[in-house]
Amino acid sequence: MLLKQLQIKDFRNLNKTQLTPINGVNLIVGDNASGKTSILEAIYYLSHIRSFRSQYVTDLISRQSSYLQLVASIETRDNSTIPIGIRRARNKSEIRVDKKPVRRVSDIAALFPVLAIHPDSYKLITGSPSQRRQFIDWGVFHVEHGFFQAWQRFKKALSQRNAALKSKQKNDVCQLWNNEICTASNHIDQLRSQYFDNLSPYLNDLIQQFFPDDNISIEYKRGWPREVELSELLDRNLQKERLKGYTYYGPHRADISLKVNNQSAQTCISRGQQKTLVALMRLAQAMHFSQIKNKSCVLLYDDLAAELDAAHKSMILSVLSSMDIQLFLTTIEEDQISLSDWSDSRLFHVEHGDITCKT
Ligand SMILES: Nc1ncnc2c1ncn2[C@@H]1O[C@H](COP(=O)(O)OP(=O)(O)OP(=O)(O)O)[C@@H](O)[C@H]1O
Ligand SMILES: [Mg+2]
Repeated sequence: MLLKQLQIKDFRNLNKTQLTPINGVNLIVGDNASGKTSILEAIYYLSHIRSFRSQYVTDLISRQSSYLQLVASIETRDNSTIPIGIRRARNKSEIRVDKKPVRRVSDIAALFPVLAIHPDSYKLITGSPSQRRQFIDWGVFHVEHGFFQAWQRFKKALSQRNAALKSKQKNDVCQLWNNEICTASNHIDQLRSQYFDNLSPYLNDLIQQFFPDDNISIEYKRGWPREVELSELLDRNLQKERLKGYTYYGPHRADISLKVNNQSAQTCISRGQQKTLVALMRLAQAMHFSQIKNKSCVLLYDDLAAELDAAHKSMILSVLSSMDIQLFLTTIEEDQISLSDWSDSRLFHVEHGDITCKT
C-alpha cells in the first residue's frame, strides 16, 4: 500500500496544500509550528479516522473552517489506484473509498495500514492498558482473520451483560450472555496470542541490537488468569460484579507487561529508553506486517532527531532504511537526518502550512 498523492484542506494549519510522496523515504522539514506533525496526523487520519494527538475532531478542523477534507490516491499491490475521500465536519462525517460511501472505519483501515511513532508514543508504556491493547489489536486486525467479527460479537455480548449487572437483574438473566462472551473471548485470546508469538522474534531481534546489556521481557496478558477458564470466573464473581455493575475479567482487560531487568518499564527506565523501546515495538510490527502480508505499510516518524541521541538515531535510521515501507520523517533541521542509506528519497519543506517539494 502506497500513498501516491494527498490533498489536504483545512486540517489544522494546512489550509490548502498537497503532497506527492514516493515509495521510499519522504523527509518533511520545517520550523516549529510550520505544520510538520499536522501532515503526519492527516496521513494517520486517513487510515484511522482519528488523530494520534487529540480525540476531538474540533482540534483538527482548521479554526477558520467548518470542515476538514482529505483526498488521497492509494496504490495497491497490483498497481491499481484507489481514491479515498474524507470530509469531516463537527458532527458529520463522509468517507468515500473508490467513490463509494463507506460507513465502517475498519474498511478504510484494512485498505491503508499506517503506523506512527511520535513524541507521545512513550505513553504506550506509561499509559493505560487500553493503549497496549490498541497496539496488539492493530496487528491482530491486519494480520489475523476473523478478529474484527469476534471483537464485535464480544463487545455486543459484554455490553448486554454489563447492562444486566448494572440494573441488578436476576442472576440467570445476568448469565444469559456468558456462553457468547466465553466463545468470543477465547477466540480473541487465541488470535492475540498467536499474533504476539509471531511478532516476538522481530521484536527480540531489535531489542538485542538496542539493549544488548539488558534483560527485557514483554509478555501478553489475556485479561484473565492463565490457569482458569473464563466461564468459571464469570460464575464465581457474579455477586461482586453485580455490585460493581460491570464484568471484571475478559479480553477487554488484556494488557502487555514490559519488564526491564525484572522491573517495570513504566517506572524503572529513562524516558529516552521508553521512547526507543516503543519505536522498536512499532518497527517490529511494520516488519512483521510486510513479511506476513507480502505488502508494505506506511510508517510515520515524527521528530525522530529530537527524540534520540546520535548513536540511537543512526541505529534507527539504519533499521528504517532496511525496511520495505513507505516512510515519512519530520525534522526541524534537514542536516539532522542523513538519507544516504536510501536509494529513493524526497524532500519537502513546510512553511505556514504550505508544502513544497524540493527534490
Ligand atoms: N485547528 C487548528 N486550526 C488552525 N491552526 C491550528 C489548529 N490546530 C493547531 N494549529 C496550529 O498549527 C500549527 C502547526 O502545528 P504542528 O504541530 O503541525 O507544527 P510542527 O511543524 O509539527 O511544529 P513543531 O516543530 O513544534 O513540532 C501550530 O501553529 C498550531 O497552533
Ligand atoms: Mg511537531
